[in-house]
Amino acid sequence: MHSDVERILFTEKQLKKRVAEVAREADAFYAGKNPVCVGILKGGIIFYSDFIRNLTVPAELDFMSVSSYGSGAVSSGKLKIKKDLDCDVKGRDVLIIEDIIDSGFTLANLKRLLCERGAASVKIATLLNKRPARKYDICPDFNCFDIENEFVIGYGLDYAERYRSLPYIGVLKRSVYEK
Ligand code: IMP
Ligand code: MG
Repeated sequence: MHSDVERILFTEKQLKKRVAEVAREADAFYAGKNPVCVGILKGGIIFYSDFIRNLTVPAELDFMSVSSYGSGAVSSGKLKIKKDLDCDVKGRDVLIIEDIIDSGFTLANLKRLLCERGAASVKIATLLNKRPARKYDICPDFNCFDIENEFVIGYGLDYAERYRSLPYIGVLKRSVYEK
């Protein structure tokens, strides 16, 4: 275990099993459809790549990069689109695939934006749901794990661009960001 990690929440094995389960649920939901899977860079990429490999429906892959966090552990409360989609979502079934829902600000804004662009439907898949931190009225349609209000890293999730490549999800030691 990395020395900045207080404890491991989900092991590589647990992640693999649960992500496959949830992705298969989404796959059944989209039977007969051709959804656009919108991955949210960068934190969502590892979850995204494991998730889509469990889909059998013909899904189109696309990406957006948005940020609501600076390099810190506290939300800045402003959504910035850093990279937009390549595809036009008008009339399409969109599945947003994101690492974590915290205050809900990012996903509430993204969902609204994609609806405004004329998507036929917009659903949300998340790896982690930090339910006690929710400030906006939004919840994922497909979620792998509920977690407490703790700052987690690994499996794509970072703190100041570090720890993304850890194969597990761990709680970051407070001493790392409370310096
Ligand atoms: P929200 O807009 O407050 O829901 O925040 C969502 C975004 O904040 C996620 O896409 C993550 O990038 C980031 N985030 C929230 N909580 C954590 C965490 O515990 N670890 C790493 N990133 C987090
Ligand atoms: Mg993110």
